[in-house]
Amino acid sequence: MRAPIVGGPPAQLRAASRIDLRMTPTPARPRIYLSPPHLGSDERLFVQEAFDTNWVSSVGPHVDAFEAEFARTVGSSHAVALSSGTAALHLAVQLCGVRPGDEVMVSTLTFCASVNPILYAGAVPVFVDSERTSWNLDPSLVEDVCRERTRAGRPVPRALVAVHLYGQSADIGGLMDVCERYGVVFIEDAAEALGATYRDRTPGTFGKAGVFSFNGNKIITTSGGGMLVTEDGALASHARKLATQAREPVPHYEHTEIGYNYRLSNILAGVGRGQLRVLEDRVRARRRIFERYRERLGDLPGVTFMPEAPWGRHTRWLTCLLIDPAAFGADREAVRLALAEENIEARPLWKPMHMQPVYGHLDVAGGAVSESLFAQGLCLPSGSSLSKAEQDRVCEVVRRCVAPSR
Ligand SMILES: Cc1ncc(COP(=O)(O)O)c(C=O)c1O
Repeated sequence: MRAPIVGGPPAQLRAASRIDLRMTPTPARPRIYLSPPHLGSDERLFVQEAFDTNWVSSVGPHVDAFEAEFARTVGSSHAVALSSGTAALHLAVQLCGVRPGDEVMVSTLTFCASVNPILYAGAVPVFVDSERTSWNLDPSLVEDVCRERTRAGRPVPRALVAVHLYGQSADIGGLMDVCERYGVVFIEDAAEALGATYRDRTPGTFGKAGVFSFNGNKIITTSGGGMLVTEDGALASHARKLATQAREPVPHYEHTEIGYNYRLSNILAGVGRGQLRVLEDRVRARRRIFERYRERLGDLPGVTFMPEAPWGRHTRWLTCLLIDPAAFGADREAVRLALAEENIEARPLWKPMHMQPVYGHLDVAGGAVSESLFAQGLCLPSGSSLSKAEQDRVCEVVRRCVAPSR
């Protein structure tokens, strides 16, 4: 049996620390995370209520209320609360009629969760590059794919999954125009864009189905969770049914199709209700953080920020910038490592999907824009609870990385 450690470290360690005092590393400064959860006060009350009333499973009043409040907030007729954004997108793809073997266009500059549900449905992703105005999908490339398929006598892709990246809406008008002309179903992945606008409406509410994520790093969180929104009541009911193992409305367990276990729990829906109440505060905080970065770093040679497109409000979920190494004197990876050294989390932009080993064999339209954004792009800590002092720490490190001669 091992002797319990009582009253501090074992003798050998105490001896070692006496010898090596000068080499003892200075304690790390508190970690600054990229986008940590930021809870308000009502979340705890709603969760407490779920416990007090014993509604702790995947049905309950918070689920119903969260769906209704979310639908009202984004301006949609129906909202279905689910266990993740990925689950929401899986149901959206399936319920929008995507079948095995179909092609589905999707942004290449995104997280893999935009793409995997297409593969879960047995369909084939076709990646499409971004344009420079919003870093989002380029409608002219979407049109190129449709035109090329038509010219070759092949079916046009069944659907388009348009991602609204880093808190900014894609060019929805341009994309919907192409989709309408070619009979392509428009699906929106608004996982990163809750709180954004496109011509005064919420991206995610334009397509046949739209999805949001409440993952821990998103602008509001339920720890994990997602929402599917739609104007189509039948689609919403079908999503609820598929999300509960496709159980038929009879007393025994009866199934006529394959379902999933995708519902959000009543406890987490309570967290979501509280978070929804502070959504506008969170957007304002993130935009303020972005402005402060721009003031403090905008003068650096070779530094440019993600543009805000003319069609709406960018939430600045993440502050993203580009670092041109020729002008700055260091590349984005050197800056990221310098930040990591100071216990600050920063991330490269999404590595485009067409560059991922797992998807490398799939078609891509364009590619050069997302490749260059990935090569130069960095996401800085942007959580709505980031203090000014923490932000100053980040800026100090970035400024230190500029080559002295610049
Ligand atoms: C663009 C995008 N789509 C989908 C998802 C998936 O959401 P979730 O993590 O809730 O499954 C995420 C984030 O995680 C995302 O950033």
